[in-house]
Amino acid sequence: MSHVDDDGGSRRDFLYVATGAAGAITVGAAVWPLVNQMNPSADVQAMASIQVDVSAVEPGTQLTVKFLGKPVFIRRRTPQEIEEAIADLGGDVSPLGDQNARNPNLPPDALAVDENRVLEGNEEWLVMIGVCTHLGCVPLGNAGEFGGWFCPCHGSHYDRSGRIRKGPAPENLHIPVAKFVSENVIELG
Ligand code: FES
Repeated sequence: MSHVDDDGGSRRDFLYVATGAAGAITVGAAVWPLVNQMNPSADVQAMASIQVDVSAVEPGTQLTVKFLGKPVFIRRRTPQEIEEAIADLGGDVSPLGDQNARNPNLPPDALAVDENRVLEGNEEWLVMIGVCTHLGCVPLGNAGEFGGWFCPCHGSHYDRSGRIRKGPAPENLHIPVAKFVSENVIELG
């Protein structure tokens, strides 16, 4: 069910830009994924899980898989990215527009410090739903003023932890239910 075909900021990202641009023109199409797919029915939620082999994902690259109709970014961060992500704000979330971790693997009031954004206990892996929280375009990786993701539709900048730092998006990139189920396999859902 998974496929490996991406790295940070290359062809796959280009394809998603094209998708995002189309969504921005036909606003209904852009909004629909946020409104409807973020709330799948209970039976869909119960059934829906996929396992992704991430053994081929090199540090500094990103794999994009489709899950519940949406792209999911699986980013393997380099030691430098991790260091910069943590050093950026330290444990201080007060400068953030959205201080919530948006991580269903943690309590709902978990703060958006870097360690609450990564897979539990594994700061190398950042798994996020690749849908801009503004109007649903797909952000580009390795882009923007904060070294993370950039949504070209209306100019939202996300940092190395996927937190919104500048632009109209109201929330950090959401994190799906995700965990490692073996050394190289991440289960989504
Ligand atoms: S959809 Fe508007 S900034 Fe991303």
